[in-house]
Amino acid sequence: MRKLSNSPEETLKIGKSLGSSLEAGDIILLFGDLGAGKTRFTQGLCYGLELDKDYYIRSPTFTLINEYSGKFPIYHIDLYRIDNQEEIYSLGLEEILFNRGVTIIEWAEKLCSSSKQKNFMFNIQERIEIHIKIISDSQREFTFKTYLPEARTLPDLTLL
Ligand SMILES: Nc1ncnc2c1ncn2[C@@H]1O[C@H](COP(=O)(O)OP(=O)(O)OP(=O)(O)O)[C@@H](O)[C@H]1O
Ligand SMILES: [Mg+2]
Repeated sequence: MRKLSNSPEETLKIGKSLGSSLEAGDIILLFGDLGAGKTRFTQGLCYGLELDKDYYIRSPTFTLINEYSGKFPIYHIDLYRIDNQEEIYSLGLEEILFNRGVTIIEWAEKLCSSSKQKNFMFNIQERIEIHIKIISDSQREFTFKTYLPEARTLPDLTLL
C-alpha cells in the first residue's frame, strides 16, 4: 500500500488513521532518511491511539525510549544514535517488544541482523513496516508493508 502525503498535517492524519486500528502488542518499524517524517507520523499514530492531542511527541533521540499512555502503553524508540547491536541488546528491548503495548521504532534498519535478508533482531516477525521517501520539501511517499495474521484488517490509507 502506497500513499502520498502533501503536508505534515496530512502525515498526521494518515498516522492517526493507522494508529486507531492498532492493537496491543503491535510493532511498527519506521524507515526513512533524516527529516523524512518518522516522528511526525509517530505523533499521528499516538493520536490514533488516543493520546491527548496536545501531547507533543519529540524524537527520543537522547533518551532512546519514550513511554506514553494511550489506550495501550506506547513505546517510542529512536535507534539513530545506536552504533552496534550490543548497544541495542543493552536497551532491554525484548521486554518492550513482546509486551502488551504498541512499540514504534524509528531507524528500524538498525534492527536488521543482516542487510541482505530481512531478518530482524529479537526474531521480530509480525510487524508493520513503514518506509518513508522524501519526494520534495512538502511531499512524502509512504509505503506500508504489513506482516500480520490474515485476520487483521487495517484501514485503507490510500482512501484518505
Ligand atoms: N508531507 C510531510 N510529512 C511529514 N513531514 C513533512 C512533510 N512535509 C514537510 N515535512 C517536514 O519534515 C520534517 C519531518 O521531521 P520529523 O522529525 O518527523 O522527521 P524524522 O524522520 O523523524 O527525522 P529524524 O530521522 O531526524 O528523527 C518536519 O520538519 C516537517 O514539517
Ligand atoms: Mg525522528
